[in-house]
Amino acid sequence: MENEKAVNKGIFEAEVLSNQQIRQCYYRLNLQFDAKGSRLFENVAPGQFSELDLSNVSLPETSMIPIHLRDTSAKQILLRRPFSFSDIVVSPLTEGCCVKAEILYCVLGPATVRMMSLKCDDRISVLGPLGKGFMVPDGLKQAILVAGGMGSPPVLHLANHLKQHHPDCEVIAFVGAKSIESFPFTVRIGNAKNLVLEEFERIGIPSHIATDDGSAGYHGFVTDNVRHWLENNPVDPASSAVFACGPEPMLAGTARVAKDFNLPCQVSMERMMACGIGLCQSCAVEVKKNSDTEYQLCCKNGPVFNAEDVVFEEE
Ligand SMILES: Cc1cc2nc3c(=O)[nH]c(=O)nc-3n(C[C@H](O)[C@H](O)[C@H](O)COP(=O)(O)OP(=O)(O)OC[C@H]3O[C@@H](n4cnc5c(N)ncnc54)[C@H](O)[C@@H]3O)c2cc1C
Ligand code: FES
Repeated sequence: MENEKAVNKGIFEAEVLSNQQIRQCYYRLNLQFDAKGSRLFENVAPGQFSELDLSNVSLPETSMIPIHLRDTSAKQILLRRPFSFSDIVVSPLTEGCCVKAEILYCVLGPATVRMMSLKCDDRISVLGPLGKGFMVPDGLKQAILVAGGMGSPPVLHLANHLKQHHPDCEVIAFVGAKSIESFPFTVRIGNAKNLVLEEFERIGIPSHIATDDGSAGYHGFVTDNVRHWLENNPVDPASSAVFACGPEPMLAGTARVAKDFNLPCQVSMERMMACGIGLCQSCAVEVKKNSDTEYQLCCKNGPVFNAEDVVFEEE
């Protein structure tokens, strides 16, 4: 099983290479880590995350702040904020390596409003890598990736990772959002006049889009789209796996579909995180243990869990 090696974490600096708006409240932040950060992230697994210190970043001009966030965004930021990655590129150097990282973020409150004003050459403090990421089983031949809304970044990271390190593995992505405006990706018309997500198409991975309101792709939940596809495209449970990240009801739905088709499934859970390093106990996830359950920490034992272990909140 890949990715089981323990990775040290640390605090280091990252330099901003670019920070671009993708659409509405979605931005793409590209960072280059310093030598210490590059060393720490050399073997990072998709799904692992970092905690960014944005307390010293200034607010953008008022006109740039979404109207509904203008009052709350002035609040001081005391805690670091957790972010996963949509890609990590490791370039070997004569000594060590250089790591470039991409974060897709959605502007929701005081910290992410400040992120909007980051520009080239700015520096931020990063704590990481944190948590446990997706594990690629030995002999994986087919990976079914399922992403919902802002759960998409680690799924894109996994897609990039599989393409690079497991070229024999067939990868297919299913991405769902409320509407066409809510994808943190670029939607465009593909060769077969179908809608595709450019970020997946660029690395040769077919993507299937679903929207709750039917404004693009399959009209309905992404989990129904996956079920429909599996009914028509049987896969071998011995060499296939499902990997998912998104809102909890979507993860619970994905877990049900995977179980119905006997497929192993890993889910990346999201919890409010105060410390990110296992100290504050604010991020509990209920998991099955023998005939009982226990609480584990999303930031330390997760965020990626085996779907069959998780007691989803709707259960
Ligand atoms: C492991 C992990 C990885 C993440 N990766 C990304 C990422 O790649 N891109 C991205 O845009 N965001 C990601 N997030 C969420 C991100 O941390 C929050 O959006 C951010 O902290 C918001 O900070 P803020 O000060 O702007 O807004 P806040 O005022 O802190 O929050 C704004 C709103 O978002 C809700 N919220 C904030 N954090 C969470 C959470 N963890 N779960 C559910 N609701 C939440 C709050 O309840 C509030 O309603 C991740 C979270 C976790 C735990
Ligand atoms: S966020 Fe503090 S223990 Fe998990």
